Amino acid sequence: MPSENFSELLNVEDLSVDFVSVDGRVHVLNDVSLRVNRGEIVGVVGESGSGKTTLGLAILRLLDTPPAEVTSGSIIFDGKDIMKIDEAELWRVRGTGMNMVFQESLIALNPVYRVESQIGESIEVAGKSKNAPVSGKEKHEEMLDVLKQLCLDRPEIVLKKYPHELSGGMRQRVSIAMSIVQTPKLLILDEPTTGLDAYVQNRILQIVRKLSREFGLSMILITHDLTVAAQICNRIYVMYAGRVVEVGRSEQILEQPLHPYSETLLAALPKGYSDSPPLPVPQGEPPDLRRLPSGCKFNPRCPYAMEICKRKEPELTGFEDRLISCWKYSEPQTVVALQTA
Ligand SMILES: Nc1ncnc2c1ncn2[C@@H]1O[C@H](COP(=O)(O)OP(=O)(O)OP(=O)(O)O)[C@@H](O)[C@H]1O
Ligand SMILES: [Mg+2]
Repeated sequence: MPSENFSELLNVEDLSVDFVSVDGRVHVLNDVSLRVNRGEIVGVVGESGSGKTTLGLAILRLLDTPPAEVTSGSIIFDGKDIMKIDEAELWRVRGTGMNMVFQESLIALNPVYRVESQIGESIEVAGKSKNAPVSGKEKHEEMLDVLKQLCLDRPEIVLKKYPHELSGGMRQRVSIAMSIVQTPKLLILDEPTTGLDAYVQNRILQIVRKLSREFGLSMILITHDLTVAAQICNRIYVMYAGRVVEVGRSEQILEQPLHPYSETLLAALPKGYSDSPPLPVPQGEPPDLRRLPSGCKFNPRCPYAMEICKRKEPELTGFEDRLISCWKYSEPQTVVALQTA
């Protein structure tokens, strides 16, 4: 009998997703595996179109099918097989098991309802799924409490506002509030700080870290910005063209990125994050998923590309939580040696 890993909350294995249209089939996720332990914050980092949002939506079984089609893989959350549970069970899981703060807070919030009724509805849904209905007074107090926790000053006034009357940072925090009142075990945050100024961005990241520490909330932080992930994540998955190309602890990815693509992400960071000289990587265009090159999908942009890179796709290999998909490290012991260096 397989032994149960009690610290593991989410285990995604070999997940592949296609989008199918009249123009044909596009492989958007290819054999993506990802694990989140209880209390852990995991970063998913990659440029636009690398499949980050698709991964988040697939984990919650929120992809529209069609056009999406899950062609392989499994998603085990808190011991439940997400692909196989029925709608009623899925509804419970989405309420109090895991939920997602969507990339566009304006889209996530309903423009015609005040903040009060939107957070209130989330509290009611959570109450119903726990079979513990809440009174109007309890609901109001909980709303004020959650907005204070999220450092929104004058929460009474915020509750009366419509989404368009709030700043981007405030809307993002209202979206987070709607998720955390459901007390999920796993929160997926899709680009929670994109488009916000540095001060508000830091504030939101501090709040997210506090929520994780105080309530043991596990999180997946989706971002294109390695600095954002490095600030709060325990481990980082780097994605390129729908594939995981590198996995490591945040400090490993920052101090010793292995994949040339991770190096380019790092080279784009402000000085102070790495002592290494910036890599002279050609800018290149993000890959077109309809016309991916053979071999390693990064090879046309890679300054180290060898003959084999153009011919054969490398597997994701390595040691425990330090994984890499690159022909430069084709011997697993190279990764082990690097890990212990
Ligand atoms: N509903 C859809 N129908 C067809 N293709 C889609 C659909 N949603 C996403 N895609 C395609 O899937 C790929 C991955 O998209 P996804 O939104 O997951 O990327 P992302 O990494 O989240 O990008 P971004 O950083 O811009 O948010 C893209 O090429 C996108 O065009
Ligand atoms: Mg996205």
